[in-house]
Amino acid sequence: MPKESQVHSSHFIRDFKLILDNCSPTSSPYFIGHMTSSLPNFLLELAKLITEKNQNLVKVETSKSFTKMELDCLYMLHNLIYQNHDYFYSEVNLNSQFSLGSFCSGGTIANLTALWAARNNLLGPSKNFQGVQSEGVVAALRYYGYKNLAVIVSERAHYSIKKSVDILGLGINIIHTIPTDKDHKIRTDLLEQKMNELESQQIKVLTIVGIAGSTETGHVDDLLTMSIIAKKYQCHFHVDAAWGGATMTSARYKHILKGIEQADSVTVDAHKQFYIPMGLGMILFKKPQLSKNITHHANYILRKNSNDLGRFSIEGSRSGMSLMLYVSFKVFGLNGYELLINESIEKAKQFSRMIKESKNFQLITHPELCILTYRYLPNKIQKLINRDNNDYIHTKINDLNVKIQEKQKQNGNSFVSRTKLFNYQYGYTMDVFRVVLANPLTQEKHLKKILHEQEKIGQNLFDTLVKFTEKECEYN
Ligand SMILES: Cc1ncc(COP(=O)(O)O)c(C=O)c1O
Repeated sequence: MPKESQVHSSHFIRDFKLILDNCSPTSSPYFIGHMTSSLPNFLLELAKLITEKNQNLVKVETSKSFTKMELDCLYMLHNLIYQNHDYFYSEVNLNSQFSLGSFCSGGTIANLTALWAARNNLLGPSKNFQGVQSEGVVAALRYYGYKNLAVIVSERAHYSIKKSVDILGLGINIIHTIPTDKDHKIRTDLLEQKMNELESQQIKVLTIVGIAGSTETGHVDDLLTMSIIAKKYQCHFHVDAAWGGATMTSARYKHILKGIEQADSVTVDAHKQFYIPMGLGMILFKKPQLSKNITHHANYILRKNSNDLGRFSIEGSRSGMSLMLYVSFKVFGLNGYELLINESIEKAKQFSRMIKESKNFQLITHPELCILTYRYLPNKIQKLINRDNNDYIHTKINDLNVKIQEKQKQNGNSFVSRTKLFNYQYGYTMDVFRVVLANPLTQEKHLKKILHEQEKIGQNLFDTLVKFTEKECEYN
């Protein structure tokens, strides 16, 4: 930090031009590699107001009307997921001891909050035990007679689950990863098998985590079957809907998330498909009583009978970001959000058709929501793979796709991300392009250009990288 002031505050745009001009073009229609996209213009004005008002949602004294606004927001979201009767919400309104959930900076903190609440609920106070919150995990396991705990997720789970388990002092080895089926959803038969196995070993399942929109492929687990299994084994069921939660606004597509209403807790990110800037996420509890397991108090703040929202959140001071969501709900309405969600899913389907129709690309995962994966695979190589499924060819194709993605990023005209996926058909791990089609500005013409650029880069790289194929292909 410089000792003396170097810049006049009115000149900062000029003086920091280098930073501003070289940031990632997240709102460009060609930037389709990640979950960040263009935002509605009216949010710029709101961002100014939020800074000007500088509310701190940790307690009512510093956020008067904002506290009420945030509670309204939580109600709307809870209702979107759980659709309870009005009398349920009136009762919650009257009881300041519980909360429908809480806002936080994003999906990671929301997932951590869910596991925290589940842990404290499972290992709560009892006759001769003050609860895990006071006595810790070792004493809690001893008291309850469990050999250990377990968290069950599919292989597609977001890494924030690992972080959460780590922070909660449970050790990431308690995470049991269940393989996915050909549709990239958790194998519920293997899930049930695992539950049985753990029960027989006196290992208590802390929570099953369902994914509603996996980060890599956008697929949604069979949440209904998972909820039935969770009930059978009497364990917490958490749904990570950080990405897919907003799909509940779509009458056409919300059936994909069937069963989410059975979840004990749900993570939703507003800074993903609700088109709010970073960072606004939330955790919702089916039964508001669950929130009681994570309450903390302090004498100067967060008094027991206050309405301070900070009683239920990991974070202390928190900005009034939720005003963006509140205003967006009013501006877009359910119909507006439905339009955005429907368009994103239909655009992903359209792009998957374009890939399938192309001779030189291979669709790897079909879009269930608006995420899909594919790779560059020239026609002649496709024939070769079908005939001669060997490691050498696969390695070369992986190299080629990695290089294409890097070159495209370096060129700076467009951006897709990449990931690694195990492919059951070929029996090996593929390097694939991953696209997220959430930006309303992205149209067919942009998608065509992106594919065209990748094809050109691929053709140029092919001969240097995959020399063997010319010879191999001779006898095709
Ligand atoms: C499914 C899922 N869960 C959780 C997260 C973490 O969210 P955040 O980055 O807001 O902490 C992500 C982020 O991409 C995600 O895709």
